[in-house]
Formats: sequence, C-alpha cells, structure tokens
Amino acid sequence: MATLFLMVGLPGSGKTTRARELEREHAAIRMSPDEWMKPLFGVSDMDGRRDVLEGRLIWTASQVLRLGNNAILDFGLWGRDERAGLHWLAGSLGATVQTVFVPVDPGTQLERVQQRFVDDPSGTWEMDAATLDRWRAVFQKPGPEELDGSWRPEPPAGYASWLDWLSDRWSTSLI
Ligand SMILES: Nc1ncnc2c1ncn2[C@@H]1O[C@H](COP(=O)(O)OP(=O)(O)OP(=O)(O)O)[C@@H](O)[C@H]1O
Ligand SMILES: [Mg+2]
Repeated sequence: MATLFLMVGLPGSGKTTRARELEREHAAIRMSPDEWMKPLFGVSDMDGRRDVLEGRLIWTASQVLRLGNNAILDFGLWGRDERAGLHWLAGSLGATVQTVFVPVDPGTQLERVQQRFVDDPSGTWEMDAATLDRWRAVFQKPGPEELDGSWRPEPPAGYASWLDWLSDRWSTSLI
C-alpha cells in the first residue's frame, strides 16, 4: 500500500532534514514548497501563491499515490483540519497516511533558524523570537488519534464533505 507521509512541525524543527531521510528510506517523492517558492518568486509567499503551489504539489502527490508509490508532503501542516483533509484524500486514493510530528523546543528552534540564515541567507528567511512565539501559539499539535493512519474525523462545520473543504483550502489540489 502506498504511503503519504505528512511532515508536521514548526519552522526549523527539522522537517525537511527528516523528510530527506524518509525520501531515501521509502523511495518517496518529497514535496517541499520552499524549494519551489524561492526559485520561482524569491519569497516564501506572495499573494496566496504558496497555497496555489501547495495545491499543485498535493495534486502531484495524489498521482504518485494512485500509481502505488510513496509521497511526502513537507508543508508543516499546523492545522488539524489540514491533516484531516489529507487523511481523507489519501484514503480516497487507496493510500495510507503516516504523520511525522517533529517537535522542537523554543530555544533550539531559534538557534537553528538563526544559524540556517547565517549559513545560507539566500535559501531561507530571517525569523525573530517574537515571530516564532506567535507561530507556536497557533500551531495545533497532532493528537494521538492522528498517528495510526486510520483517523477519519467528520468534515468541519459548514462543509458537506472533505472534498468541499479541500477545494476551499487548496483549490488547485483536485484538478
Ligand atoms: N535533529 C537535528 N539535530 C540538529 N540540527 C538539526 C536537526 N534537524 C535539523 N537540524 C538543523 O536545523 C535547521 C532546520 O532544519 P530543517 O530545515 O530541516 O527544518 P524545517 O522544519 O524543514 O524548517 P522550515 O519549516 O523552515 O522549512 C537546519 O539547519 C538543520 O540542519
Ligand atoms: Mg523545511
């Protein structure tokens, strides 16, 4: 059975580092939006284009899964609904999900993002402690129910299906 890996964690937690290992261990295609946004636009987001790009990467991953191969979405996926929607999508393609939560404490996180910026200023963005704190406050940590791949919560209020929700959140993911 094909596996969709969801990398979940805050900036600088080590998602891409871990995703590169998984890519080798599981012969999986890895989708890291920053590796596209920076060469295309020079920035991490611009007028919502990151969502457009993420949608296309999900669309590509869907084709990979449909063909029976493994894919990694290295998006961060701070929101529980985002992860739930992707669980539904993988299930609809006959694939299973592995949620890979990469935790990091605030001190280590700040050190890592600052060091990364010093090492490669053109490949990343400067982030200060206050910004990292704000992001940590909105990040929704995955619960234990998310971790065994069989998680199938109901769609959020106002949505008849996860398909509807996905077409709102990542409109370019479905066609
Ligand atoms: N387990 C680890 N031990 C020490 N350093 C690490 C570890 N994992 C990652 N790093 C370093 O921390 C920095 C951030 O790692 P990485 O780029 O993988 O994080 P990320 O979660 O993908 O960040 P972003 O969300 O900004 O893309 C890198 O310089 C990386 O080399
Ligand atoms: Mg990364």
